[in-house]
Amino acid sequence: MEHPSGRLSTHEAHGAAGSAFAQYVGSDVLLSLQNTRTRAETEPSFLIITQVTELLFKLAHTEAVRARDLLEDDDVPGALRALRRFRSTCVSLNGTIEVLSSMGPTEYAEYRGALGDGSGFQSYMYRHLEFVLGHKVAAMARLHRDDERVHRDLLRALGEISLYDAALRLLWRQGLAVPESMVDRDWSLPYTEQDDIVAAWHVVYTEQDKHAELYLLAEALMDAAFELCRWRTTHLMVVERVLGSKGGTGGTTGASWLRRAAQHRFFPELWTVRTGL
Ligand code: HEM
Repeated sequence: MEHPSGRLSTHEAHGAAGSAFAQYVGSDVLLSLQNTRTRAETEPSFLIITQVTELLFKLAHTEAVRARDLLEDDDVPGALRALRRFRSTCVSLNGTIEVLSSMGPTEYAEYRGALGDGSGFQSYMYRHLEFVLGHKVAAMARLHRDDERVHRDLLRALGEISLYDAALRLLWRQGLAVPESMVDRDWSLPYTEQDDIVAAWHVVYTEQDKHAELYLLAEALMDAAFELCRWRTTHLMVVERVLGSKGGTGGTTGASWLRRAAQHRFFPELWTVRTGL
């Protein structure tokens, strides 16, 4: 075998395509996608880590959708299982970005030009993940308007109920004082923090015996938010280390833009409720 980049001899390629493992995993396709654009020493790790991250975003999204749907069916134990997998997936994301954490500025500069205006900012899988968790920013969907299929899918996701909306609807069905306006609304609108929701979570935390499952759900949502925010923060630090305060290839101001983005919190009232406990 020449290199595990997928450039196999015809004989080897047929062997791989023929095995049950390769067919299931799609190894031939998967291992042929590492098309680096330069001979820079760190470009393979940058490209492969980016590809792995895209896959892990996809898995996290799958688990978040599952958790949301199970909450809508009042299946809290099922949702908790999905959220546990979501959290482990984010732990893997954090281990994955770690590979880039020691990259030097001159190493990255060797192939940065070859990326053109390509940036993780344009990752539609990441945007789907943010949307299903409840961080709905229509401008982020508009960014993809030149790609019809991606744009259509993102607009659909923007209008769908999020995991957090589903959790609030469950609280409402269980008799907590969630305002009616929060259980049926235009789901595409940005979520704004509400005092009533802080108060509802406060009841869950202070009356844990009565709301045992909801308490477990609240902490599972926090675990999920915590690990994904950790990825954002590590990514920001990688960017600071590699780019300093240079602008990003995606057209933002770079680290200062990401610093603001990293301040966002999924499930905002779950963070606020802590102050009063
Ligand atoms: C040397 C490594 C990296 C650098 C220097 C870097 C740089 C940046 C910068 C500057 C931005 C802001 C947007 C822009 O103007 O481009 C950004 C956003 C982003 N990057 Fe990276 N990045 C790196 C690695 C990665 C990897 C491996 C991924 C995995 C897919 C990734 C995913 C993202 C995502 C999802 C955003 C959007 C974040 C948001 O909207 O809040 N980045 N990156």
